[in-house]
Amino acid sequence: MQPFSYRNGALYVEGVALTVIAEEFGTPCYVYSRGGIEGAWRAFDSAFGSHPHLVCYAVKANGNLAVLNLLARLGSGFDIVSGGELERVLSAGGDPGKVVFSGVGKRADEMLRALEVGIHCFNIESLPELQRLDQIASRIKVRAPVAIRINPDVDAKTHPYIATGTNANKFGIPAREAEAVYAEAMDLAHIEVRGIAVHIGSQLTRLEPVLEALDQVLGLVARLDAQGIALRHIDIGGGLGIRYREESPPTPAAYAQAILTRLGGEPLSVITEPGRAVVGPNGVLLTRVEYLKDVEQRHFAIVDAAMNDLVRPALYDAWHDIVPVERRPGPERRYDIAGPVCESGDFLGSGRALNLSSGDVLAVCAAGAYGASMSSTYNTRPRAAEVLADGERIHLVRRRGTVQDLMREEVIPPG
Ligand code: LLP
Repeated sequence: MQPFSYRNGALYVEGVALTVIAEEFGTPCYVYSRGGIEGAWRAFDSAFGSHPHLVCYAVKANGNLAVLNLLARLGSGFDIVSGGELERVLSAGGDPGKVVFSGVGKRADEMLRALEVGIHCFNIESLPELQRLDQIASRIKVRAPVAIRINPDVDAKTHPYIATGTNANKFGIPAREAEAVYAEAMDLAHIEVRGIAVHIGSQLTRLEPVLEALDQVLGLVARLDAQGIALRHIDIGGGLGIRYREESPPTPAAYAQAILTRLGGEPLSVITEPGRAVVGPNGVLLTRVEYLKDVEQRHFAIVDAAMNDLVRPALYDAWHDIVPVERRPGPERRYDIAGPVCESGDFLGSGRALNLSSGDVLAVCAAGAYGASMSSTYNTRPRAAEVLADGERIHLVRRRGTVQDLMREEVIPPG
C-alpha cells in the first residue's frame, strides 16, 4: 500500500486529500497513515516468520498514543527509554510484559515502576546500573529480568550523532568486559539473566555492520554458554533505515533473513526494536507558505512550520522531500524552505525546485519518525496538531497546542 499518492494532481493520504486536512485542522500539522504504519509493523513481524520473536516498536520515534494503540492492537512489544514512555505504552493499552527498557541513565523511580508493572526485560548498559536494579528489585522482592547491552565497536556508517556502537559512544558495555558483568549478574540474588542486546545506530542502510555486531554477540553467547550461562533471547536493536532521498536500505524481509541465517540453529528468540522504519515513511508534516522573499541570489519560501516542529534538517542536515499538496503547472524556482524561528539554522530544505505562491500547502515527506516526538516549543510556538488517516476517515490524535498550554507550568514569584 502507498500511504501517500497523487490523484489528478492532488496529494492524498489513504482516501483523503491533504488539502482537506490542512483546511480542517490548520497547519503545521502532522498526518499519519494507519494502513502504512500497520503494514510496516507487519512486514517486520512476518519477516521473522516462525522463529520465536518479538517486534518491540521504539516509542521514541513517535510516541503518539494513537500510534502506540494501533501497534498494541497488532500485538506489538515496545522499546522504551524512560518512565514517561512506559506510561505512554500503558495508557495506549500496550502489554508491559512485552516492554524492553533501554537507555544509559535509568533512574531508580523508573526502574521501580517498570518492575512493578512487570516489563519483559531491562537492557543494562553499565555495572552500576545492574547493581542499582538488583537493590531496587530486592526492596520489592522480585527478580529483575535483564539483558546486557554490548557495545561491539563497529562503525554503523550513519550520521555520527545517531551512531551508537563504537567505543567512543556512551552506549553499552564493551564486549571484552561483558563476561565479567554476566558473572556478576549471575551472583546477584535479584537479577535474572535473560538475554543479550546490541544496537549500533539508526538510519542504517547496509547490513554488514549489523551482521558484524551480531557475529560478536553470537561469539559471546557461545562463550557464556560454555560457562553455564544460557541465554534465552538476543535483542538486535533497531536502526533499519528508510529512503529519504537516494538511500536504498534493505527491506525488513532481507534484514530478518540475514539475521536468521547468521543465527543458524541457535535456539535464541529474537527481539527487534524498529522505530523509524515503522513510522517514518508513513507521516508527513503539512505546512503553509506565508511569504515568498527574494534575497540576493536566493529565493526563500517562509513557511509556518519551523525547526521546533521538525528539527532533523537543522540538527543532522537531514533531507526530507518537500512537495506541493496541489500540483500546479508553471515555472519552478529553487527555494530555500525556511520557518519563522529566529535562527539561520531554521530550515526544512534548501534549493528545492517548486512552483510556489503564498498560501500554498506543502508536505514535508517521511516525517513520521523523530518529527513530532522531537518537537519543542522554542520561540513560544505551540505544538503542531497530529492527524491519523484511516481510509476515508481522519482522526485528530493530538489537538494543536495553545499558548496557554505553554505558560501553564510557569509561575511568577510574589513580590
Ligand atoms: N533501540 C535503541 C536502543 C535505540 O537507541 C534506538 C534509536 C532504536 C531502537 C530505534 O532506532 P530506529 O529503528 O528508529 O532507527 N533522532 C534521530 C534518531 C535517533 C535514534 C536514537 N535511537 C533521527 O531523527 O534521525
